[in-house]
Amino acid sequence: MKKLDPVFRSALDSAYTHAISHLENLDQTSVAATVDAETLRARVAKPLPFEGIPADQALEELVRNVDGGLIGTAGGRFFGWVIGGVLPAALAADWLTSAWQQNGALYATSPASAIVEETVGEWLKDIFTLPKQASFALVTGCQMAHVTCLAAARHALLAKRDWDIEAKGLYGAPSIRLLSSSARHASFHRAVRLLGLGHANVVDLPVDAEGRLAPRALAEELAKAPDAPAIVLLQAGDINLGAYDDFEAIMPIAKEYGAWVHVDGAIGLWVTASESRKHYLKGIDGCDSWATDGHKWLNVPFDCGFAFVTDAEAHRESMSVRASYLTHASAARDEMDWNPEWSRRSRSFAAYAALRQLGRRGVGEMIDRCCDHAHAIVTGIGKLPGAEMLWEPTINQGLVRFLDPRPSATDADHDRQTDAVIAEILKTGEAFFGGTTWQGRRAMRVSVVNWQTSEADVERVIAAVKQAIKAVV
Ligand SMILES: Cc1ncc(COP(=O)(O)O)c(C=O)c1O
Repeated sequence: MKKLDPVFRSALDSAYTHAISHLENLDQTSVAATVDAETLRARVAKPLPFEGIPADQALEELVRNVDGGLIGTAGGRFFGWVIGGVLPAALAADWLTSAWQQNGALYATSPASAIVEETVGEWLKDIFTLPKQASFALVTGCQMAHVTCLAAARHALLAKRDWDIEAKGLYGAPSIRLLSSSARHASFHRAVRLLGLGHANVVDLPVDAEGRLAPRALAEELAKAPDAPAIVLLQAGDINLGAYDDFEAIMPIAKEYGAWVHVDGAIGLWVTASESRKHYLKGIDGCDSWATDGHKWLNVPFDCGFAFVTDAEAHRESMSVRASYLTHASAARDEMDWNPEWSRRSRSFAAYAALRQLGRRGVGEMIDRCCDHAHAIVTGIGKLPGAEMLWEPTINQGLVRFLDPRPSATDADHDRQTDAVIAEILKTGEAFFGGTTWQGRRAMRVSVVNWQTSEADVERVIAAVKQAIKAVV
């Protein structure tokens, strides 16, 4: 056995030590950044020196330079946007993924990666209760999962109208209608932009008080052009409320008009693993495609998203490509037939390890735990003087806002107060929350997706919010 070069080993040892130290200190350190852009730039943004330095020194310098500029996303007090942590097995497998340096493009470039990915896809279809014949892709995130699914949708809808989209492009093609709930995520917009479908063509349909697309509005809109190809976007867990569209009611309407139904399940598809909450997803298996994330609720490292398509042939036709230097497998699945990348990270290893660590039961428990913590945080904050609960979590998403105590305070004052309290919480470094505008009012979003969030964290962040309210008043 040839020993690793001492500097190579020293760089890895140092990375290991710093990683452990970062994880062990998450409880004591600020969850928000403690240095500003100017400080970071002064340390980092220097001209690239002509001469290099040993690997271990490069690593030490990097660690020193980013100090204070890292957010505590890996820890249990982070509730901003929708950002997961990292499960131990997933993190460890991710380190190995880099050490192994496998190219997950083809079975030939890494047989292990291809077979592990096949398995992850099957396991996930089972968890999400998706049709057995559905094809899948492991992509960089839900954004690219949308692109992948909608490319398949575009292929299928246009092929039915004798239009070969892959060969001819969109020049002269029948135009595809895009109908969605107004609660949709902006990544849908970007996906349709990238696919040449044009985001100005998206028709936003009204939602009810619970954020659910009104089926009748969809039926009326589809009836306006009954023969036109149409994609309907549904939400499984929207960004503010975690709202679910009524799949059972909507699917027959969409099918009557031959529309393709795509589901944004970035957050909420995982709720299929929860015995007590899976009823929100009734009818989900009847849709045409689904996009979700690994790096949110599965708690695997970035970058990891999942796309699933019922019409596997449309999926493959829209993605596969051939070149004479490639070696294609006949008895295994070549990953690049299903995703928009060529060379790519073997992200299946971390997903596989996460799922093996948790097992089916563990996935369900993690989902339920996050939902319970979200409920405790939102209702706990809602009871504080000066706070108001706007949305009580049904899954892991909730909304609160903060009230300006002056008797003459207007909605605009409450909006300002809300943003000021959020900023104050970040200043303390005790917790990280983000803001949003919901039904015209500023609100603080609470999103719990980290496997590490504990009951002690819940108490700690409610106490921190209480202090922040006092500090702003
Ligand atoms: C509902 C929803 N859809 C899509 C996305 C985009 O996912 P990603 O950031 O993994 O591309 C997000 C990200 O927060 C989301 O919350």
